[in-house]
Amino acid sequence: MCGIVGLVGKKEVKVKDIVNGLQKLEYRGYDSAGIAFSQNNHVELIKTTGKIANLREELNNEMEKEIKIGIAHTRWATHGGVTELNAHPHTDCTGKIALVHNGIIENFQELRKELIEKGHNFKSETDTEVIAHLVEEYYEGDLFKAVLKTIKRLDGAYAIGVIHIDEKKIVSVRKGSPLVVAYNEDYALLASDITPIIKYTKDVYFMNDNEMAVLEPGEIEFYNINGEKIEKKSVHIDWDEQAAEKGGYDHFMLKEINEQPEALKSAITGRIKNGEPIISEIDNLKEFIKNELKKIFIVACGTSYHAGLTFKYFMNRYSKINVDIEVASEFRYMNPHVDKNTLVLAISQSGETIDTLEGIRIAKEKGAKVITISNVYGSTIPRESHGAIYMNTGPEIGVAATKTYTAQIGILYALGAKIIELTEGINEEIKEILKGIEKMPEIYKEVLKLNEKIKELAREYANYQHMMYIGRGFGYPTALEGALKLKEISYIHAAGYQAGELKHGPIALLDEQFPVFAIIPRDSLYEKMKSNLMESRARNANIIAITTEKNEEIKQLTNEYIMIPEAHEALYPLVMAPVIQLFSYNVAVLRKLDPDKPRNLAKSVTVE
Ligand code: AGP
Repeated sequence: MCGIVGLVGKKEVKVKDIVNGLQKLEYRGYDSAGIAFSQNNHVELIKTTGKIANLREELNNEMEKEIKIGIAHTRWATHGGVTELNAHPHTDCTGKIALVHNGIIENFQELRKELIEKGHNFKSETDTEVIAHLVEEYYEGDLFKAVLKTIKRLDGAYAIGVIHIDEKKIVSVRKGSPLVVAYNEDYALLASDITPIIKYTKDVYFMNDNEMAVLEPGEIEFYNINGEKIEKKSVHIDWDEQAAEKGGYDHFMLKEINEQPEALKSAITGRIKNGEPIISEIDNLKEFIKNELKKIFIVACGTSYHAGLTFKYFMNRYSKINVDIEVASEFRYMNPHVDKNTLVLAISQSGETIDTLEGIRIAKEKGAKVITISNVYGSTIPRESHGAIYMNTGPEIGVAATKTYTAQIGILYALGAKIIELTEGINEEIKEILKGIEKMPEIYKEVLKLNEKIKELAREYANYQHMMYIGRGFGYPTALEGALKLKEISYIHAAGYQAGELKHGPIALLDEQFPVFAIIPRDSLYEKMKSNLMESRARNANIIAITTEKNEEIKQLTNEYIMIPEAHEALYPLVMAPVIQLFSYNVAVLRKLDPDKPRNLAKSVTVE
């Protein structure tokens, strides 16, 4: 996820207008930023690494400069390191064309090869730069036509804004990445969301996939990707600027929960296609995986550990490879049994968690290979690993991990499937699971509609002091994650247990003051879970259950229930995640707590 912004004006536009707009999008990525504007018949290009503040500093006096047109970008790196050259905007060989892009071009390697053969000169390692050179290749005096031809060559996801020095317009297209455009009498603007726009107008156009917009001062024309004109209706937005930063949501956590359809899609783009796992990031380890791999050891903390545990259940069911897991703070002091035949999987949203970092250092000393899954490009853990897979969900601001958790599970399943493909051969059932992940963004749209019902439940349970989450099989990591989410933001004492363990101790806690939150989809362990619910009811505990649609029987077993769409049982951790997140969020808000900044916690735990 990156942020793009563009502005073209009848009146002069100041450079600082565009930079101020970009600032509103910094939450979408902040490892580098850049701006391009037309100036004395050439495109002026200024790019810096780091936050937008660095760009402001670099621009210095130029901030007041009057220009007619400009585009800018704040980056969350995916392809290519955090360098000035890799920062956007990207230009063609002539320097007349500049563009900003949010998304991933999946076929960029083939395109790059083709364009280099035709004599194009590449300056960056990014996937984006191919678009600038393709536009150059097709440009015959009409930017719109050149972009139209270019997008026919692109696979993947994109929202782009392109300018050419000879034309006073911005051509933009959306496929799979968000894009909003708007205009008033004097200006036309584009952005990744409405935050930079509402200062100018509250009537905006949300672009759909495969739609193009040509922005000229004071007007916008819309087209489909065949170049035919289309009509679009504007939407009136009533938010003030502060509400807009949170996408109209009250908290970043709620916004991030609701971003999961887009975040998961972006995490698996280029990694799962029609049920096939891709994961090119481990190409350098293919021979090791095929010929030497004997064991996988997962190292992580908190929510990332729960994603890792879900992966362990997946691998345990579908692979013969021995998979072990330990929380990083234990792993680093336990003389872990890893060696040159071990693949250590480090999972860390921030990429900076000190225990996980020390864990991989120990693993490397013992000769293990390390792959990290992280959301922060260039952070320490992925840098010190043999391979890094970035989640591409954009920054997560709420302290509670939400969208990164589901992105982790999606990527881990794809990675697991790839490892199985390389070692034992992948079967149809695994491919079906991967296809299910590809459909998950759509399923999420349904699951997120359950929030009203979840809010009602939260009202019933917000004043309890305790909550016990129980699950079995794939439901167990979900129970742990549910308990962690609830305790960290609502300060209710919550614990997660394997439901089968109840009678070995925890059941002694249960009474009318100690409710049970049961993860009970209709899966292979449903009957076993039913027995555990009955045991809990017999101790007068109130029971909330998440179960699957059409499970009428649940009404007799529980006090409250939420029904989610049916799926393959390996996918329930993904389907259920938004439900446990929304429950905790609503409870925290009802208890008048700030879910974005829970007490005593930090987003990145860099001390022991
Ligand atoms: C989850 O909501 C927490 N914020 C926390 O448990 C977190 O998952 C843990 O600290 C690990 O962080 P990491 O993924 O950045 O390594």
